[in-house]
Amino acid sequence: MSNSATLAVRVARRQREAVDIDSFELIAADGSGLPPFSAGSHVDVHLPGGLLRQYSLCNPPDESHRYQIAVLRDPQSRGGSAAVHAQLQEGTLLQISEPRNHFALAHDARRHLLLAGGIGVTPILCMAERLQHIGADYEMHYCTRSADRTAFADRIRNAALGARVAFHFDDGAPEQKLDLQRLLGQPQDGTHLYVCGPKGFMDAVLGTARASGWIESQLHYEFFSAKVEASEADAAFEVVVASTGRVIPVAKAQTVVQALSAAGVDVQVACEQGVCGTCLTRVIEGVPDHKDVYLTDEERAANDQFTPCCSRSKSARLVLDL
Ligand code: FES
Repeated sequence: MSNSATLAVRVARRQREAVDIDSFELIAADGSGLPPFSAGSHVDVHLPGGLLRQYSLCNPPDESHRYQIAVLRDPQSRGGSAAVHAQLQEGTLLQISEPRNHFALAHDARRHLLLAGGIGVTPILCMAERLQHIGADYEMHYCTRSADRTAFADRIRNAALGARVAFHFDDGAPEQKLDLQRLLGQPQDGTHLYVCGPKGFMDAVLGTARASGWIESQLHYEFFSAKVEASEADAAFEVVVASTGRVIPVAKAQTVVQALSAAGVDVQVACEQGVCGTCLTRVIEGVPDHKDVYLTDEERAANDQFTPCCSRSKSARLVLDL
């Protein structure tokens, strides 16, 4: 493998999984084993052209010879999914990070309720297969626009876990649609809820769960895109680079990352939407205006770190540990 920070891998197999969704099997470029991962993990993929994107691993975590990712070609994409679909072919060499997990199974849960929307199935399927493998109590719901846009449907139906998975199609009959109120209306002790999918889906699931009294520690979620809303209250402020004392102005229409970059200070970014945590930076002084969906409420309240790709400042100045 290349070094401890990145792994050199090769695309060993590319396969169509559904309309606009392909899976990619990555193996070590030198034929060695790959670092272990747990269900819910993702890797950063350095794409041709310099983009960095994160994709959940969707093969069983007890495999060490490959990582599998699946990518939706998204017309709204900022370039990542288009680059994957256009440029990753069998044989393509890539650098990826080691797997990281911000969306792990709660091992003390008595029961697991897994909800996937669209391409959000990737970490959820990995979790379901893991729970099936260890004989845990779980139930999975998989919502998609239509049957032909449902990746891994045969893999699910043809396996033992098929009996625990309910499919819900937007274009299907009303009685097969997911009834969130019925599913989540009565939170149960020891049941943990996991959700991954488009923002509207996640907002609906989490909103229903919270309104029904689910406690935050029972809710597990991973956003893969989020719209960062500009607000009238957004104002100009300054950031201070603690290591040099340099003061850099951030204009109202600029992100902190953009202002830093214009001043020659580069912060690594990937999603640029407050989703992935790649740009997470320690705040030494000042009060950030958090706009991300990555940090937990407790982490946000501590105000000692923020995501400069989208978050701003409530104070006139933020001193950053850069
Ligand atoms: Fe993803 Fe900032 S780059 S959270």
